Amino acid sequence: MKQVTSLALVALLAGVAVNAGAYEEGDWVLRLGATTVAPDEDSDRIVLPTAPATVLPGVSIGNDTQLGIIPVYMLTDNWGMELLAATPFEHDVKVKGAGIKAGSVTHLPPTLSLQWYPRGGQRGWQPYVGAGLNYTLIYDEDVDPQLAGALEGLLGASEADLSLDDSFGLSAQAGVDIPLSGNWAINLAVWYIDIDSTAKIRTDVGTVEFDVDIDPWVYNVGIAYRF
Ligand code: NI
Repeated sequence: MKQVTSLALVALLAGVAVNAGAYEEGDWVLRLGATTVAPDEDSDRIVLPTAPATVLPGVSIGNDTQLGIIPVYMLTDNWGMELLAATPFEHDVKVKGAGIKAGSVTHLPPTLSLQWYPRGGQRGWQPYVGAGLNYTLIYDEDVDPQLAGALEGLLGASEADLSLDDSFGLSAQAGVDIPLSGNWAINLAVWYIDIDSTAKIRTDVGTVEFDVDIDPWVYNVGIAYRF
């Protein structure tokens, strides 16, 4: 009997050791990395009130990479809640076709996701998928002198101001933590975020409005540490 108990104890300890790197209920995992927001934008045309109207084919939005700060709390061994946070992203905006710089926008896209870890409670690679909610706060929009010049030439506008509405939408994601040693891992993750906004160009001779779906793919490459 004593031997059986010892064997059970050895098996239990071995099990604990095997699961030492496992994600378990109550764990925190902090992911830090290079997070890139790559817009897959779809912009309405910009109709300027000249006579006849001048139609520009919309805007394109460039990529930006910032420091991602991405904490996760394991609600159970298999379910986690993750917050995607980062230092502010700044994107160049161009007028499509015309080759004119429109300006730049800065945004914060915090995204809260419920995640499923199929290998939760087990040691080794930790793949996950998630779905969540995004709020994108767009601020500090700047008009480039090239757009200001074009608006002055076409409309006689002496002032121009760009603004984009904030967005609330859904997100989907997948990722994996690849174990290194101890509590460290490499993190690779991707999100698709539905970010739909309306842009306004206000000038002293009138306002032009058009819809812009930013809908970015977001990538993170970094490290993860389990507490
Ligand atoms: Ni969209």
